[in-house]
Amino acid sequence: MIRIVTYFLCLVVLLTACKKKKSDNPYDDWEDGTKTPVVADKSVDPNTIQGLHKNIFKPTCSNSGCHDGNFEPDFRSIESSYNSLVNRMSTNTDPAKPEFSKRVVPGSAATSMILHRILEFIPGTQGKMPLLTDPGSDWPAKKNEYIQNITQWINDGAKDQFGKSPSSIDFIPQLAGLIVFADASSTPLPHSGYNPVQIPPGTGTLKIMIAYSDDKTPVNQFGTSTINFSLNPNSYDSTVLNLVTESSATIGKGILGTDINYCHSIIIPVSDLGVANDVIWVRTETTDNVNGNVFIPSTTTSFNFKKYFAIKIN
Ligand code: HEM
Repeated sequence: MIRIVTYFLCLVVLLTACKKKKSDNPYDDWEDGTKTPVVADKSVDPNTIQGLHKNIFKPTCSNSGCHDGNFEPDFRSIESSYNSLVNRMSTNTDPAKPEFSKRVVPGSAATSMILHRILEFIPGTQGKMPLLTDPGSDWPAKKNEYIQNITQWINDGAKDQFGKSPSSIDFIPQLAGLIVFADASSTPLPHSGYNPVQIPPGTGTLKIMIAYSDDKTPVNQFGTSTINFSLNPNSYDSTVLNLVTESSATIGKGILGTDINYCHSIIIPVSDLGVANDVIWVRTETTDNVNGNVFIPSTTTSFNFKKYFAIKIN
């Protein structure tokens, strides 16, 4: 008897639980109202980021193999264009014109790299932009008008598609390079890839130079900067030495292989650093006088960068 009652109860539960609850379909009451005509080619203000994207970045810059996500700036969408231009550091700088350190400087078309890349050929780069134009492109005919639109947008503050000005971001200083001169030589020792600088046997003294980059503060106006050496890339003791801020910059290859300015240095005997076969890891601390002190490289810096920021005594 108990068994029959149990089966019966189970059956009741099953039937009620499986009953499909009718959900409201929002389209039940939908009526095929009057459609507003699709505006095929809605006019967009050419001096806005969405106008620049429609007229220039999408048709002329993001073509296949170019700025289509392969590298920055990424001109595929309005958002990717905006985020890879405004306040972003240039990958390829112009040693002759260090003021072009950023792709777009809100309010200053005169120091924005994007226009510099369109108007000038920079030695060591692949050429003036666009490197080539597709057949039928209106760039050749409208180039001056488009340059004017880009200039206007930047000088109006490089607003985003919602008309919002970029908040005044101030990035912390970045690692840009390390070069080493042995025994007062005027030529730096080779430094290739993400590897320590090899110190030739018998070298007495080193001049170590550090390059930083910063979005706002000129590097030679940084605050007190110090350097620290260790045999362990993840642990540094407290003995720090002051870096000298050079009165004039030394130009040398940076971590990206391009010529950059070196403004900070220290001269130190090899014997103070270690003995043969030691790998000496380097850490510096500096400030752009806006963001607090930062360690470069920091504990979270990739190991490749830490390897680049090291010296091997042979
Ligand atoms: C008007 C359209 C274009 C604009 C506004 C433009 C803008 C730029 C900018 C600002 C840079 C420098 C990025 C940096 O160093 O931070 C750059 C680099 C580059 N662009 Fe373009 N570009 C355009 C069209 C093209 C096209 C059509 C191609 C390919 C055929 C191309 C290929 C490259 C390459 C390979 C680089 C990196 C190498 C170098 O710096 O020379 N670009 N472009």
